[in-house]
Amino acid sequence: TLRLSQTLPVSTAKVGKTSLIMTLVSEEFPDEVPLRAEEITIPADVTPERVPTHIVDYSEAEQSDEQLFQEISKANVICIVYSVNNKKSIDKLRKFYPVGYVLGYRVPLILVGNKSDLVEHSSMETILPIMNQYSEIETCVECSAKNLKNISELFYYAQKAVLHPTGPLYCPEEKE
Ligand code: GTP
Ligand code: MG
Repeated sequence: TLRLSQTLPVSTAKVGKTSLIMTLVSEEFPDEVPLRAEEITIPADVTPERVPTHIVDYSEAEQSDEQLFQEISKANVICIVYSVNNKKSIDKLRKFYPVGYVLGYRVPLILVGNKSDLVEHSSMETILPIMNQYSEIETCVECSAKNLKNISELFYYAQKAVLHPTGPLYCPEEKE
């Protein structure tokens, strides 16, 4: 049996999940953030694909595996955040099992490489093999909450992954 924390794509702490959400909402980088952002719904008319978008943060420090699992089972898309300057957070991506194995249905995933302001080289070379391994991963994007780079793009990709998924919605052979 796999432990929940091994099967779920849990992000490493401090990669900038909360900062990304708060930067999207306020259009500026907050110097200080709580462990977990409050749940928020972005109204349809200010989103790129014109659909209301509910954003739920996750904090390893505040939430149990079971709570994470509950949130994941309600999600239409999951953004897995790593930090481009943190090799550990990238290594962690290699280890997770696609969440579809646990849920029995496909949930699109987006790989988000945050803190691009801290590095000069791209992490894409490392990320692409992971992306090609799982059809659930719709896309990957490098961004910076600090520089407000690719923040709106990230949320556009997330909406697009739900509204116009490119992969199959269910792959029975993948479950085995
Ligand atoms: P936990 O909820 O504790 O797991 O962390 P988190 O993933 O929500 O990260 P958080 O938003 O708390 O950010 C962690 C640290 O990284 C803070 O000091 C942020 O200011 C910093 N940070 C977040 N985004 C960026 C970024 O794009 N660039 C840089 N340079 N720092 C960032
Ligand atoms: Mg946080």
